Amino acid sequence: MKIRAAVVESFGAPLEVQELELAEPRAGEVLVRLVACGVCHTDLFTASGADPSGYSPAVLGHEGAGVVERVGEGVSSVEPGDHVVTLFSPQCRECEHCLDPRTNLCLAIREQQGQGYLPDGTTRLSRDGEPVRHFMGTSTFAEATVMPEIALAKVSPEAPLDRACLFACGLSTGLGAAMNTAKVATGSTCVVFGAGMVGLGAVAGCRLQDAERIICVDLSEERLELARGQGATETLVGGPDAVEQLVELTGGFGADYTFEATGNVAVMRQAVESARMGWGLATMCGVAGKGETLDVIPRLLITGRRIAGSSFGGLKSRDQVPQLIDRWMAGDIDVQPFLSHQLTLDEVNKGFELMEAQDGIRSVIAF
Ligand SMILES: NC(=O)c1ccc[n+]([C@@H]2O[C@H](COP(=O)([O-])OP(=O)(O)OC[C@H]3O[C@@H](n4cnc5c(N)ncnc54)[C@H](O)[C@@H]3O)[C@@H](O)[C@H]2O)c1
Ligand SMILES: [Zn+2]
Ligand SMILES: [Zn+2]
Repeated sequence: MKIRAAVVESFGAPLEVQELELAEPRAGEVLVRLVACGVCHTDLFTASGADPSGYSPAVLGHEGAGVVERVGEGVSSVEPGDHVVTLFSPQCRECEHCLDPRTNLCLAIREQQGQGYLPDGTTRLSRDGEPVRHFMGTSTFAEATVMPEIALAKVSPEAPLDRACLFACGLSTGLGAAMNTAKVATGSTCVVFGAGMVGLGAVAGCRLQDAERIICVDLSEERLELARGQGATETLVGGPDAVEQLVELTGGFGADYTFEATGNVAVMRQAVESARMGWGLATMCGVAGKGETLDVIPRLLITGRRIAGSSFGGLKSRDQVPQLIDRWMAGDIDVQPFLSHQLTLDEVNKGFELMEAQDGIRSVIAF
C-alpha cells in the first residue's frame, strides 16, 4: 500500500514527507495504522546526524499509537481493531533476558533493529523498488507501519491515542525509573534532576510510590511549575550549587532516591552526590553524548550509595505499558499537561524546532 511518511534523506537537513510503498506484514509482523506520534529528542538526534550509528534513507519516529489493521502469519497477541502503543524496547517473552525479572533488555531482535531492518533482515518500506530502512523498529512518522508483534503493547481501547503515544517513550521511562528500577519506598525523599518528559514521569512515579518528599531540579521555572503539577513537593533551580542545597534541604544527608533525566554527565554526578550515605540510590535515565563519562568519587560508593541505569524505565514493555495506561485511565496520572502542540505529519520539522526552543514538553503528530 502507499503511505506518506517522514524520511531522513540527508543528515542535518529537514525530514522530507514522501510517498512510500509499505509491504504487507510477514510472519510475526503487524500492520498498524498510526493515529498519533510524539516527536522526541532521539528522532532529532538521528535526523541531525549527531548519532554515529544513524543511516538513511529511513523513516523516523518511535512514539506511536494506533490501530492494528492486519496481522501476518502466526501473530496471536493482537488482532485487527486492537489499540496499540509502539515499543522501541520489545519483549519477546522467550529470550534469556525476558525470562529474567532483573532486566527488560530483550535480546530477540536487537541487531536487526539497530541496523534498520525487521527481524528477518529485510524492510517493508521502499521507494521505486529501493528499500527504505526502518528506525528503532518502529518508523511511526508515517500513516502506517509494519512492526514485529513483540514490539506492540495492546492497550485499553478507552485510552485516547493522541496521549497514549506518550507512553511509548519518555513518560514510561520516567514512571518506570521510579516505580520499577528504583522501586521507591513509601515515605521516602526523592530528588529528580530534569523536568522534561522523562523527569516529569519520574516525579509522577515517585508520587505513585507514595514518596513523602519529591524535590525537582530544573533550569526552567515553567517546567518546575509542571513538576509541581505532577506531585513535586519542592522545586529548585539547578546549577553548580545544587548538591550543596539538596544536602542542606535533606538534613545534611541527601535523598533516599535521586533520578537524573537531563543527559548531562555533570548533572549525573550531582545525582550521585546528592544521594544519601548508607543507602541512597541514584538512577541514571539520561543518554550522554558519545565518549562522555560519569565522574564518581569511589568513597561515595563505599559509604553506601548505589548507582543504577534505567532503559525504558526497566519496563517489561508489553506487560507493563498497558498497566501504566490503566493507571492513567483510573485517574492516577495526569497526561494532558505534557501534550503541548498538535501537528500534522507535514509539520514534523516544526516539532523539532519547538523542541529545540523548549516550547512545551511534547508535540504530537495527529494522522
Ligand atoms: N533511558 C531511556 O530509556 C530514555 C528514554 C527516553 C529519553 N531518554 C533520555 O532522557 C533524557 C531526558 O529526556 P527528556 O525528553 O525529558 O529531555 P528534555 O530535554 O525535555 O528535558 C531535560 C531537562 O533537563 C533540564 N536541565 C538541563 N540542565 C540541567 C541542570 N544542570 N540541572 C537541572 N536540570 C537541567 C532542562 O531544563 C530540561 O527541562 C535525555 O537524555 C534523553 O535522551 C532516555
Ligand atoms: Zn523518544
Ligand atoms: Zn526477549
